[in-house]
Amino acid sequence: MWKGRFQTETSNLLQRYGESISYDWRLYPHDIAGSIAHAGGLLDAGILTEEEERQIVNGLHEIERQIENGEFHFQTNLEDIHMNIEKALTDKIGAAGAKLHTARSRNDQVALDVRLYCRAETRAIVDRISALQKSLLGLAASYPDTVLPGYTHLQRGQPVLFAHHLLAYLEMLERDKARLRDGLRRIEVMPLGSGALAGSTILINREKVAERLGFSTVTQNSMDAVSDRDFIAELLFSIALTGIHLSRLSEDVILWATAEFAFIELSDAHTTGSSLMPQKKNPDIAELTRGKSGRLIGNLTSLLVTLKGLPMTYNRDLQEDKEPLFDSIDQIKLALEVYAEMMTVAKVRTENTLRAASDPFLLATDLADYLVRHGIPFREAHEVIGKLTAFSILEKRSFPEITLEEYRQFSPAFEADVHQCLDLTTALEARRATGAPSPSNVHAQITRWQETLAQSSFC
Ligand code: ARG
Repeated sequence: MWKGRFQTETSNLLQRYGESISYDWRLYPHDIAGSIAHAGGLLDAGILTEEEERQIVNGLHEIERQIENGEFHFQTNLEDIHMNIEKALTDKIGAAGAKLHTARSRNDQVALDVRLYCRAETRAIVDRISALQKSLLGLAASYPDTVLPGYTHLQRGQPVLFAHHLLAYLEMLERDKARLRDGLRRIEVMPLGSGALAGSTILINREKVAERLGFSTVTQNSMDAVSDRDFIAELLFSIALTGIHLSRLSEDVILWATAEFAFIELSDAHTTGSSLMPQKKNPDIAELTRGKSGRLIGNLTSLLVTLKGLPMTYNRDLQEDKEPLFDSIDQIKLALEVYAEMMTVAKVRTENTLRAASDPFLLATDLADYLVRHGIPFREAHEVIGKLTAFSILEKRSFPEITLEEYRQFSPAFEADVHQCLDLTTALEARRATGAPSPSNVHAQITRWQETLAQSSFC
């Protein structure tokens, strides 16, 4: 493609070192869509005749079919997807093909291709997040009244509904979708027409090209347009954060699947055994997801570091944006899919969650609140219940087993109804503030999510 200036062939080693076709081939539908839109621009600008434009469009469609059918021969010496397609087109249709690269450089071409790719994949990821939300919601709705301890510091804190715990992840995932959708505003900006860095003397109606590609705006600075990869960094961050949310969910699932917690039973289809220990049933999906979240952070970091020292404008370093991007997208899509499948068929071991949730100490805060309702300042109430807890441990008698007389030795504010606030159902029902886990709140949240997710198509 640059043979005019060079007398010798590119070294084999440089070809191997510099090629990107082995991974950027997957940009082909976007490269072709971009070229078709560009050909339209060249036609409008009077560079192509209608016949030439038609040949280009047909030729590109044929190449697309060949690639889809595995009949296309990608060549490493042609470096990347852009040159592979352009060469194949020129071989096919001759002179008209050689006109396609007018007023375009691979610098604005690759920027466009990657934007088109990011747009399509953002939508695919959002859809998969919705599918996981539906799966988690289904599980929550199957156990609407299951109670389990809520933890802080991984120490039992207060009782919550299992559904409330799972719905926390729906909130995180909803923010992930919002973040991805917001990123689209910066992805959907059309860079074509920026040329290598300074546009072109051949004027193309860029807005019209953008319209053909479904982009509502065009880039406003050609130098920025060919070197901007911020939109990829944002997408990699959004993916990394989604990965971290899945990693947190994984940690819960891994704990819940232990013999010690035994809150959940994963299906045989979503666990593995051990070649040595016959009794094992390992939560590999959750572990892999927790592990892969590190890789997603690595991909984000890799791009940020690549961008950090770059002078204006395009530098070949930017070719290094693709493998981290492709990897993060492939991994998060798979993680979301496999997780949705696993959680759809997971079972909660309600006998164990109930046993754990029946720990009377989970209601220590409720006892303190009882004193507050009887006029005791909270700090003082907290101390009283602290002493009562020490007494309960020493006496080996739980809160319900302590008599009213004994309660009154700790504070005269205790009255005959003290034992009533030690009932799990009453305690949960009392937590009625917005966002708190009273059963009526949680049931309303389940309904809200069912409605939200039923409507949620992409845009
Ligand atoms: N494969 C290149 C990339 O991914 C395309 C742009 C090449 N531009 C150039 N001036 N060599 O960045």
